[in-house]
Amino acid sequence: MTSSTGPIDATATSAWQDLSAHESTLTPDLRGWFEADPARAQRLTLQLADLHVDLSKNLVTDETLALLVRLADEVGLADRLQAQLTGEHINVTEDRAVLHTALRRPAGAEPRLVVDGQDVDADVQAELAKMYAFADRVRSGEWTGVTGERVRTVVNIGIGGSDLGPVMAYEALKPYVQDGLEVRFVSNIDPTDLAEKVKGLDPTTTLFIVASKTFGTLETLTNARLAREWLWTELAAAGVLEDSDDARTAAVAQHFVAVSTALDKVAAFGIDPANAFGFWDWVGGRYSVDSVIGTSLAIAIGPDGFRDFLAGFHAVDQHVATTPFAQNVPVLMGLLNVWYVNFLGAHTHAVLPYAQYLHRFPAYLQQLTMESNGKSVRWDGTPVTTQTGEVFWGEPGTNGQHAFYQLIHQGTRLIPADFIAVANPAHPLRDGDADVHALFLANYFAQTKALAFGKTADEVRAEGTAEEIVPARVFSGNRPTTSILAASLTPSVLGQLIALYEHITFVQGVVWGIDSFDQWGVELGKKLAMEIAPAVVGDADALAAQDPSTRSLISTYLALRS
Ligand code: F6P
Repeated sequence: MTSSTGPIDATATSAWQDLSAHESTLTPDLRGWFEADPARAQRLTLQLADLHVDLSKNLVTDETLALLVRLADEVGLADRLQAQLTGEHINVTEDRAVLHTALRRPAGAEPRLVVDGQDVDADVQAELAKMYAFADRVRSGEWTGVTGERVRTVVNIGIGGSDLGPVMAYEALKPYVQDGLEVRFVSNIDPTDLAEKVKGLDPTTTLFIVASKTFGTLETLTNARLAREWLWTELAAAGVLEDSDDARTAAVAQHFVAVSTALDKVAAFGIDPANAFGFWDWVGGRYSVDSVIGTSLAIAIGPDGFRDFLAGFHAVDQHVATTPFAQNVPVLMGLLNVWYVNFLGAHTHAVLPYAQYLHRFPAYLQQLTMESNGKSVRWDGTPVTTQTGEVFWGEPGTNGQHAFYQLIHQGTRLIPADFIAVANPAHPLRDGDADVHALFLANYFAQTKALAFGKTADEVRAEGTAEEIVPARVFSGNRPTTSILAASLTPSVLGQLIALYEHITFVQGVVWGIDSFDQWGVELGKKLAMEIAPAVVGDADALAAQDPSTRSLISTYLALRS
């Protein structure tokens, strides 16, 4: 199937009809299923590169999984995946290839990937080499600021995919960050963000990376201008910047680099294109952390760490491309999400890392999944035929346990949840004799057990509970989870986790027939903000042109301003 043939309506397939019939007779019973089938855990635990993925606590039987795999076949997932990997323009509304998987192909991969007449492999390797060389110069101290001081703080200015991936990965890989280097991230156009992030910084040792695929994003360009002004002001205050345009230009050249697909706009901003790293329109913003958008990360963890990161992605890409669907972890997890959303009525999906370093992973996944699959029309413009993108959310355990887990355990809504943990912590601290990380992971294991198997009224009574509070202490169980476990949170393992969710997102999008790679839904608000801006600074005509509610709100704001 190519982008010219139109999507297959999943709801019209025989697999979908059979799944509906199957669902209507299925009574989820994880206790019973495990009792009847002691091998269930082993059978449904699959290996994805370094990730052990236990699917056994999901609300599926072998028949459910077989039907879901059939659904994947009937919607043409294999062809669609092939179309993606080979650079067909499956991003139909923007007429673009979708080739984030090319970003992590190893040097020398064969056969060469040539798309739209371009040797994609050569382009990727050339830009990576440039980024690595730059990262080495910063890390070694060869790259200096205006006073000859080495860089100690990198400030990444970007938003959306130009921020969420880099900040998430930097936080996740903190143990790999070179001593003496720190990366800060500015994203919000709320001036508080920039003001707080530059607080305490020495301008002579600060390097800004302006990261923007389009180099046209209001937030990023505004913050970049604020940062440039801060640099000039602080260097002048320190007595190390002459009052001349040449000196200011030279300061920008030494303290600003850029990452973008629009190198002409980079030059217009005043950043020397020699200090800019490029990528291509076939890399979606939310799929770009493994491109040069990750320059801040490459500086922090070094080229070797970044190569390891890319190798992790690639290992998962290989698995997806070569593993039969019945054993293909991202395919199965994507299909399970379809099962929960379309057949069992789930509206949300929790991702719960039991690894503090992954504390930004759920936020990262929100853009990846929801900007990709939050669509109401299919890629040929026709309405979708079923529910699409669920709300992804989460917080690290055990913090979440003391906040929202109550609703997952005993609420009325079905919330499938992914539990992610690593066996070896970066900080193996002990509390007296106790291994604190082991205690932490006891919670990881306990939560999925409680969610799956619950606690019956008889079990509650057997604990001597007063009859009137027995109902409040019953846990229904049958609350689905997937457990993902790796040895350690290495750059490679992080790459594997990201790639896993990229492919899950893709699989869901294919079943729903949507273009998971455009994001028109963010445009209207951006446009209206520009139209409203004059009213917010007091233009009476612009204010009068607003609808009554917006006019009233802006008037209140103007009255409140001191
Ligand atoms: O929010 C819309 C969006 O286009 C995202 O897809 C993207 O990651 C973000 O804005 C930032 O865009 P850019 O990297 O072009 O500044």
